[in-house]
Amino acid sequence: MSEDTLANLLIEDRSFEPSPAFAKQANAKPDVYSLAEDRLAFWAEQAARLTWDAPWSEVLDWSGAPFARWFTDGRLNVSVNCLDRHVDAGHGHQTAIIFEREDGSSEEISYADLKDRVCRAANALTGLGVGAGDRVAIYLPMIPEAVVAMLACARIGAPHSVVFAGFSAEALRSRIDDAEAKLVITADGQFRRGDSMALKPAVDEAVAGAPTVEHVLVVRNTGQEVTATDKDVWWEDVVAAASAEHTPEAFDSEHPLFILYTSGTTGKPKGILHTTGGYLTQAAYTHWAVFDLKPDHDVYWCTADIGWVTGHSYIVYGPLANRATQVIYEGTPDTPHKGRWWDIVQKHRVTTLYTAPTAIRTFMKWGDDWPNQFDLSSLRLLGSVGEPINPEAWMWYREVIGGGHCPIVDTWWQTETGAIMISPLPGVTATKPGSAMRALPGISATVVDDHARPVADGEGGYLVLDQPWPSMLRGIWGDDERYVTTYWSRFPDVYFAGDGAKLDDDGAIWLLGRVDDVMNVSGHRISTTEVESALVSHPAVAEAAVVGASDQTTGQGIVAFVILRGGAEDEDIASKLRAHVAKEIGPIAKPRQIMVVNELPKTRSGKIMRRLLRDVAEQRDLGDVTTLADPTVMNLIGEGLAASKSDD
Ligand code: WT7
Repeated sequence: MSEDTLANLLIEDRSFEPSPAFAKQANAKPDVYSLAEDRLAFWAEQAARLTWDAPWSEVLDWSGAPFARWFTDGRLNVSVNCLDRHVDAGHGHQTAIIFEREDGSSEEISYADLKDRVCRAANALTGLGVGAGDRVAIYLPMIPEAVVAMLACARIGAPHSVVFAGFSAEALRSRIDDAEAKLVITADGQFRRGDSMALKPAVDEAVAGAPTVEHVLVVRNTGQEVTATDKDVWWEDVVAAASAEHTPEAFDSEHPLFILYTSGTTGKPKGILHTTGGYLTQAAYTHWAVFDLKPDHDVYWCTADIGWVTGHSYIVYGPLANRATQVIYEGTPDTPHKGRWWDIVQKHRVTTLYTAPTAIRTFMKWGDDWPNQFDLSSLRLLGSVGEPINPEAWMWYREVIGGGHCPIVDTWWQTETGAIMISPLPGVTATKPGSAMRALPGISATVVDDHARPVADGEGGYLVLDQPWPSMLRGIWGDDERYVTTYWSRFPDVYFAGDGAKLDDDGAIWLLGRVDDVMNVSGHRISTTEVESALVSHPAVAEAAVVGASDQTTGQGIVAFVILRGGAEDEDIASKLRAHVAKEIGPIAKPRQIMVVNELPKTRSGKIMRRLLRDVAEQRDLGDVTTLADPTVMNLIGEGLAASKSDD
């Protein structure tokens, strides 16, 4: 094993072919990879899915690399592509959004109705002085107005910056400030576990420190009281009063569509910039090919929040451009009971479910009885995104949720890539539990070693994207230099995604997490993901997080934090798990220490904050905990560690 590459330790040899019935009806056929060998011709063909007001002159202008221009000189309006053209084609009555509230009531919004709402909102925004190019911050819960607000911004060419409504006033202020937003769209509050939680006070606090904001447009959602400020305007006053007639303007293919902030290695969040024609082309194509969308039959449900890129590309832009009917749920998975999601699948006959491994593992922990109480037979396709999915979680998803008959698409992408890059095609690819398999047609991804040389099958290294793609970020808002140094400097002329990956003997890609999550034990680079997967494959373990802590003898030692399944308490569990990892991966990967905990520190998007666990493992004071979903979990974990002793 070369020192330059990641150890390839965990071997998975299960593989699942698509059923002949699925393959026969699938949107993407096996010949698509060879048809896409001419990448530019392929993407030009996909761009023809959209309605353009003026044709493009060149598919890709890469002369200013790494700043790309796709479909140059083409002009289009994103909201027309998501709404008007479907209504004009006679689909105005089709349901666009099935809005499910936490209390179990629901509402259906047709394409014609959604178009009217977006036109009214667009007129209202113009009335508030927002024009093309002005930035609008959106801080809203998962309600239809969030979709309406985004599309209204797109309609008038005002780039939106959606800020997750769980973020603090300070996080909101710094994002408003960086983008110099002119307008903030928010709500009085949001429903969470039966309670209404205020949103407006955080906005008031943020806006007090953000002089660029001229107005705050407030949606009445919970009906709770709000303190008025002189910038407030009520959605129900200005949007309802506005005309539903709106003549859209076509924008340049490279016109900014949105900014979305994502955390970086330094404290300052990065405003990832996406533009119009290329972004919508890849969002629409991937949604059609990967989720196999049949607009006349499917009921699609992506459980992400609108505050993440998944909500942008796979709730708003991709699905609506493809005329999907989709569920949007404002609520938590365990209110009023832990079967809430399965209840929604049964109620609306959901066919396609797209969610995250962290949710899947939580449901595993809650037990099979919850999903088993509901009729999930409408499901025909399952998707996963956000982090590597452990093989055991994948198998559980397949068997318990998918009834053993739904293809699973494990989709790798990033805020920066804008749309899915690596994924099985559901009617084509034989899938392996835990692998995202291969780059999509029209996309080129490779795994390289420290010297940018492609690694051989069976080896690991760094994931890079070596050809530009239509929905790629066009930069970091206001900081071109940071764009170049962050993504294009580690290896010459290729985009480095920050992830480790390995190729198996068949050349399938296995994501191994962020490279800063790689451990170095006695000179062997071991991925935290592989050790976590080995732990989760033990029947007693529901969830695991692994970090490398500095170790005098081995460089780093592996410290594992595990959540046990209900009823799995056992005095000897630590030594059993160490033996299990040794058997699954090899003695080199045996954790030095295993901590049984009740919770793991996670960001609000569900990613485990290994940095904090490393602080605990190395007995340091905790670093910044402000992005934790629940800051108290670290106290509990810290106390537990102090009370435990290493079992070596
Ligand atoms: C990072 C990007 C893409 C939308 C949600 C996250 C990790 C994402 C997978 C996957 C393994 C994955 C990567 C990536 N990631 N999907 N299917 N398998 N890892 O967007 O917040 O920009 O995070 O999420 O580490 O770099 P994001």
